[in-house]
Amino acid sequence: MTELTRRSLLRVCAGVACAPALLQACAPRESEALAIAVQAPVEGLVSVSTPRVPELLKAGGSLILHPEGNDLFGRPLSLLVANTSSQGLKAWDAYCPHAGCEVAWADHDDEVVCPCHQSRFSVDGAVKQPPARQGLDSYSAKLSADNQTLIVDLSGSAGVFPALQNGYVTFLIKSVPDLLLLGGSVTGRAPGVPFPLVLLRSSPAEVLAFDARCPHLGCSVEGAQKLLICPCHGSLFGLDGSVKQGPAAKPLVALSATFDGQTVSVKIA
Ligand code: FES
Ligand code: FES
Repeated sequence: MTELTRRSLLRVCAGVACAPALLQACAPRESEALAIAVQAPVEGLVSVSTPRVPELLKAGGSLILHPEGNDLFGRPLSLLVANTSSQGLKAWDAYCPHAGCEVAWADHDDEVVCPCHQSRFSVDGAVKQPPARQGLDSYSAKLSADNQTLIVDLSGSAGVFPALQNGYVTFLIKSVPDLLLLGGSVTGRAPGVPFPLVLLRSSPAEVLAFDARCPHLGCSVEGAQKLLICPCHGSLFGLDGSVKQGPAAKPLVALSATFDGQTVSVKIA
C-alpha cells in the first residue's frame, strides 16, 4: 500500500477515532490533519524518519501520528505534532479531553483546536476555550542532529510527581502538601508514566493511588474527601475505585501504593 493510500485511510479512521459512545456527539469535523501510522514508542520516544513527515518541515505544518498500540479505551495511540510559529516543533495528545475527538493545529491562531465542539488550547496545552475543561498533555518534539529523524519525547511531560524510577513513583509526602491533610488529594503527571495519577490521603496511615483516567471518556478525575469525581460529566467513584454514579460504567484502575509515614511509593504496573 502506498504512503498516500495509507494516509488517506488513516484520515478516514481519524474521523471515527472518538469513543464509540460518543460518535453521535462528534459533529462533522471542520478540519482534519493527515495521519500516519508509526512504530510504537521505545523508552518513551516516538521516532519517525523525516521523509515520512514533510508536513512538519514547513512552518505551520502539522500531522497526526498513530504510534502502534492502543490506549486504555482501545483507541489507537494518537499524537498531534505541529511546526508552530511560536515554539517550533511541539506535540500533544491528540484526543480532546471533552469528548475524545482528535484535535488539529491552527497555525494562524497559534492554537490547537477541536473540530467537534470548538475547544481551543494554547501551545502549552492549556484550555483557552471550553467546553473542554482539562488541557492537553504536551510533549517536546525535535529533529535529530542529522535531520533524518523526528523524535517526540513522551517522557518529557511536566509532572507534579517525580519521574518513574524502576517501576515506582516515590516521593516524600511533605513535598506534596495537599497529601498532608486527611482527605487531601492531588491529580497530576509523573514523567515516564503514560497516564495521569490521582493520589488521595484516605487515613493517617494510608495513601490511595489510581490511574486518573476516567473510564467514561478519559478526563482526569479528582479527589473530593471520600469520593473521586470526574469534572467532565460528573461520574463519581468510591475510594475502592467502584462507580457510584455514571456515566462511567467501569471502575477506576487502582494502583498499589505504600506509605510509611514519610515516603509514598506507587507501583506502576
Ligand atoms: S470533543 Fe468536544 S470540544 Fe473536543
Ligand atoms: S469523562 Fe465523562 S464522566 Fe468522566
